[in-house]
Amino acid sequence: MSAGPAASPPAGAPPRHLRARRALLVVVAVGMLTGVLAGLGRLGVGVAWGPRYALDHGPLLVLGAFGTVIALERAVALGQAWALAAPALGAAGAIAMLAGAPWAASLAVASTLALVVLNAAIVRRQAATFTWLMLLGSTLLTVGAVAWAGGRPVARAVPAWLGFFVLTIVAERLELSRLAPTPRWARRLLAALAVALAASTAAATLGAAHALRVAGVALAALAAWQLRFDLARHTVRRPGLPRFAASGVLAGAVWLLATGLLLAAREVPPAGPLHDAAVHGVLVGYVLSMVFAHAPIILPAVGRVTVRFTPLLYAPLAALHGGLALRVLGDLVGEPAWRRDGAIASALALALFALTVVGARVAASGRRRAGRG
Ligand code: HEM
Repeated sequence: MSAGPAASPPAGAPPRHLRARRALLVVVAVGMLTGVLAGLGRLGVGVAWGPRYALDHGPLLVLGAFGTVIALERAVALGQAWALAAPALGAAGAIAMLAGAPWAASLAVASTLALVVLNAAIVRRQAATFTWLMLLGSTLLTVGAVAWAGGRPVARAVPAWLGFFVLTIVAERLELSRLAPTPRWARRLLAALAVALAASTAAATLGAAHALRVAGVALAALAAWQLRFDLARHTVRRPGLPRFAASGVLAGAVWLLATGLLLAAREVPPAGPLHDAAVHGVLVGYVLSMVFAHAPIILPAVGRVTVRFTPLLYAPLAALHGGLALRVLGDLVGEPAWRRDGAIASALALALFALTVVGARVAASGRRRAGRG
């Protein structure tokens, strides 16, 4: 995702900082891998060490992996050493979860609070709609983390966490879309929808009846907004990386629209197939699709790792969405095998994406060396 006000790290940043950032990215990768294996373990797929962490699947992915990487990206955007406290606490929380430490949840809460402080510092530096949306989003991450650390079931934290992801991503897209300015009324509408989403998801996490249905309406409206105003509508016509990124963004927005409509139409229980469809419609369909779309921008900004575009990147993107479609269909028609196979396909899509990114990089450095030789 974007790097905010100070988009790229200052030239010649000390390698120590870079090493620290890369170490944090390694923790994120381990948390992500374990979290996904844990999710497969919940579906009865006995893979590696994952099943041991079945109950921590959500917190590991949301707080340990995504919370940390988003905080890292924001810290790089602010460009001040103290800001690294937020991702460092997030990584410490992930390690504590992996170690089964009882204070893991407290560390995770501390990391979310540090992210709020970091986002507030960014708003102070640049008060813009997108920076405010990120600040609002991070307060939702804290609301969910506090509920979880306070002993509520993970499912209670989920609405606030969905709000966090959606507001953060919408904000990133808004910042990237500054090259294609949106009308003033549309920005105001976006701000109103963001506030509605924040209020309804926080209320759902606090236990308010029907709040999740209101959140569904807000999610669907935000998705429609993105499909109408996002820069991706234009960049999808440009070949290469812009079209790939735009495809990920637009496909993600379609999942957000569908999931929002589902949440608005049905009372979703806190566990079971409908819950699975609603949670992963947003977290896999929208969030992971955005991650695929933005990885070529995030990795260079955060870890100075160049990601080369190759058309092969479309294969994991297609597997991600195809797998999720099968999973959600299985959830809706009561076919647990489709649900499981679809989830396996999405997990493999993640592995394939990582391999494609690494493979393209290795091939490019091989070509460079051959050119020099
Ligand atoms: C593709 C691999 C994934 C698999 C196999 C998987 C599997 C599962 C399963 C079986 C559940 C229980 C659903 C229910 O019955 O209510 C679940 C819940 C959940 N998942 Fe995933 N998931 C995956 C990806 C993700 C991702 C990428 C995220 C976060 C970004 C995520 C976050 C959550 C959360 C927050 C919950 C609800 C919390 C809970 O009930 O413990 N999952 N997942």
